[in-house]
Amino acid sequence: MHQMTRDLLARRKPGYALEREFYTDPQIYKDDLEAFYYQEWLFVAPACELPKPGSYVTYKVGEYQIVIVRGADQEIRAFHNTCRHRGSIICKAAKGTAPKLVCPYHQWTYDLDGSLLWARDMGADFNPGDHGLHQVHCRNLAGLVYICLADQAPDFDSFADVLRPYLVPHDLENARVAHESRIIENGNWKLVWENNRECYHCSANHPSLIRTFPEDPRVSFLGEGAVPDYIATHFAECEAAGLPAAFRVPEDGQYRVSRMPLVPGTKSFTMDGAFAVPGKRLGNVTLDHAGVCNKFHYPSTWAYFLPDHCLTFRVTPVSPTETELVTSWLVHKDAKEGVDYDLRHLTEVWEATNDEDRRVVEDNQLGVNSPAFVPGPYSPAHEVSVDAFVDWYCAKLSARLPAALQAAE
Ligand code: FES
Ligand SMILES: [Fe+2]
Repeated sequence: MHQMTRDLLARRKPGYALEREFYTDPQIYKDDLEAFYYQEWLFVAPACELPKPGSYVTYKVGEYQIVIVRGADQEIRAFHNTCRHRGSIICKAAKGTAPKLVCPYHQWTYDLDGSLLWARDMGADFNPGDHGLHQVHCRNLAGLVYICLADQAPDFDSFADVLRPYLVPHDLENARVAHESRIIENGNWKLVWENNRECYHCSANHPSLIRTFPEDPRVSFLGEGAVPDYIATHFAECEAAGLPAAFRVPEDGQYRVSRMPLVPGTKSFTMDGAFAVPGKRLGNVTLDHAGVCNKFHYPSTWAYFLPDHCLTFRVTPVSPTETELVTSWLVHKDAKEGVDYDLRHLTEVWEATNDEDRRVVEDNQLGVNSPAFVPGPYSPAHEVSVDAFVDWYCAKLSARLPAALQAAE
């Protein structure tokens, strides 16, 4: 089975789209979950979704059920949302607040730190200390909660150290989710990413977004060679205002952060380019034309941090041809809808853009499903970042297949 994946990886033509099986085959989908979603750090939610002790969110990825909960000590922890008795799922809502985590089956009751507090009639030899919830690695990076399902989590600190100074000015800990959208795109998760990594499709598909988002491909990807003058000037202005701005990309290309200018004269992702939350901005960015801090981090998230509000996106595979995309619009926790912002003004551009992206990804999947699909070449001007994503994917999958092979055979 894995031999097919190996053969496909071996014959991959650099600079070209992947072959059909990568977007359709159930075994490769399983390999993707094991090699990426069960190994890497995954963004799950903004920390402001967990405002007080007992606040929780649940997350399903592949076959895993996870609950992320804020403890009485304010620490955010993640656990397998699977009871230590006979395995029932414990928290069933997408989010909520609970003083304790109580299994609905036989009411085993866990403290917010995962320890088992109570289990009825289990006999004299039963030790609750042996039956706490199994913990999942969890980190809060300046208001972004990440988890990792691997036994040995990959290094998080070097990533966090690069990102933190970019995020801190946006003060995500004092945010509130003004709006959340949860959509299923009928496309493989890699098609969702590939689409996100280029703006070659923007002029024909994103009339709202391109009012403020520059189509210059050098804004969307890490180009080779010199940074253009106007972007260098923008970086310098931001840095002078205490805002880190320059591109940061690790050697393997797994994430990128930068602070980019928007279309001249515009300040935020709105239809008129004005701030959506002008009077009660989220964060401490005083430079009105700071543009957008763009962050992506494979395989689970991209995000935009603006001087007045922020957007986080979470990408989760659901099946070989279905991907969940959760978008959260973050505003200052004291900003009131109808007073400090108009919800439609805040959300219109990305509601439309997500819908447009869903359509192009679904169209892409339909065409790729055909046995007649032959991978075509990437545009050297516009799709360098798509190529970089596919390179990252292939390198990681190749490196991790032997482990998957042992596990499966
Ligand atoms: S399965 Fe949870 S209490 Fe029995
Ligand atoms: Fe798009």
